[in-house]
Amino acid sequence: MNTAPPSPSTDRLAVSARGIVKAFGVGDARTQALKGTDFTALEGELHLIVGPSGCGKTTLLSVLAGTLESDQGEVSVLGTRLTGLAASQVTRFRCRHIGFIFQQFNLIPTLSLVENVSVPLLLNGTGRHEAEAKAAERLKQVGLAGRERQRPTQLSGGQQQRVAIARALVHEPRLVICDEPTSALDSVTGHQIMDLLSGAARAPGRSVLIVTHDPRVYGYADRISEMEDGRVTGVHSGDSLAAFIHAETRS
Ligand SMILES: Nc1ncnc2c1ncn2[C@@H]1O[C@H](COP(=O)(O)OP(=O)(O)OP(=O)(O)O)[C@@H](O)[C@H]1O
Ligand SMILES: [Mg+2]
Repeated sequence: MNTAPPSPSTDRLAVSARGIVKAFGVGDARTQALKGTDFTALEGELHLIVGPSGCGKTTLLSVLAGTLESDQGEVSVLGTRLTGLAASQVTRFRCRHIGFIFQQFNLIPTLSLVENVSVPLLLNGTGRHEAEAKAAERLKQVGLAGRERQRPTQLSGGQQQRVAIARALVHEPRLVICDEPTSALDSVTGHQIMDLLSGAARAPGRSVLIVTHDPRVYGYADRISEMEDGRVTGVHSGDSLAAFIHAETRS
């Protein structure tokens, strides 16, 4: 049922990870979150990662985004080998090229919404005035116009999630990585956000990687990687993708 991994000779790789191992804790409390997994995503695609709770999805995303160092394995993103780079170089690369939507949103509670969304632009050297204008535009796109000066604590979970999405897209990163971007959203808003993320994936040289449990999102995928117990166990595209979605959404 699995398709072959995408061929690097005909398609441009956005992300390539080989043999990724990551464990947390020591002794009896040690958990092997990733057990030597491979993962590949292409430029120009919206790629979903699905799998049961605890199978290692967030850990894999964190390694790909360079926010977590793996114990073993190699990661390249957008043609840059992150493995072996100094932490400061990884941080600089991430600020410039990656937008990350965390499972817990990670908004800064003491900053207003427009200030939160401005952060990636400020880190890349954009002036405050221009950064806030672009941030306000993104907030409008996610349906939060008029709330620019509010704080995250004044918002519902779904509204906070939309702020996190605006922040991930504001600097037009080449790779957008999202951990459950629609989990707190109603159906209409969920589809609006997926339309935005789809648009980001279709722009030249860009791609979007999404971890999700939400079958409403499956129809947006160009490719779906299935994870189980610390490994990618299947990759679906084309006919195999259609069959996977049919099987998963049949009730
Ligand atoms: N910081 C950490 N310290 C200790 N164990 C961790 C840590 N982060 C993850 N784990 C463990 O690693 C395993 C994989 O966790 P991970 O968060 O990657 O799963 P997930 O697939 O994202 O799950 P979910 O769908 O519930 O978000 C789990 O057993 C988890 O308990
Ligand atoms: Mg997770």
